[in-house]
Amino acid sequence: MMALDSRAFRHTMGLFATGVTLIAAQDGDETHCMTATAVASLSLEPMLALACIAKRARMAGFLEKAAGFSINLLRDDQQALSSYFAGAWQAATPPPFRLVPWQGGPRIEGCLAAIGCEVHAFVEGGDHWIVIGRVLALHRGIEPRRPLLFYAGRYRHADFAEGQAAPDLGWVEAPTHVYYDPWQET
Ligand SMILES: Cc1cc2nc3c(=O)[nH]c(=O)nc-3n(C[C@H](O)[C@H](O)[C@H](O)COP(=O)(O)O)c2cc1C
Repeated sequence: MMALDSRAFRHTMGLFATGVTLIAAQDGDETHCMTATAVASLSLEPMLALACIAKRARMAGFLEKAAGFSINLLRDDQQALSSYFAGAWQAATPPPFRLVPWQGGPRIEGCLAAIGCEVHAFVEGGDHWIVIGRVLALHRGIEPRRPLLFYAGRYRHADFAEGQAAPDLGWVEAPTHVYYDPWQET
């Protein structure tokens, strides 16, 4: 059996491919941005989104003061911004970016898409805070919309040639197939 430690957990969860986002928040004159992949949509009614923020990240303390935040989805050519806002930037000058005032938190210009949120709740999640935001605004950037991906600890680029339509959102209503689960046998 595989070892059950945080390294194995990280490597296993790392097989769940994600996009890459920048969380941006403003408190008075101060703005703070942080790279995050632990982001998800949470609820449609009401519209909620969440981000998992390490308690030791400066962003955690910052979000307690800020009224909201934006989730900025990075494009395939914005890897430098991901590294910069993860504190892993080596070059002398930062990569170019621009923040524009927006609902919830400042929006980073030129991203794939953005979700503006007001802080709804902080939920305890071990060494992270699950920060839940109520969605105030949505933005979709110009075409072509190609996301930066993160998988197995590396940045990746999608091959859209392989794309196939997923079930329509009406799938919730569709009949589901229930399979016999041998683990439930008593
Ligand atoms: C690809 C990638 C994804 C990351 N995802 C998260 C995340 O979801 N949550 C988190 O708290 N930190 C995440 N981090 C780490 C933070 O970006 C990093 O610790 C950052 O320096 C914290 O910034 P701060 O302390 O200035 O707020 C990620 C880093 C990278 C490179």
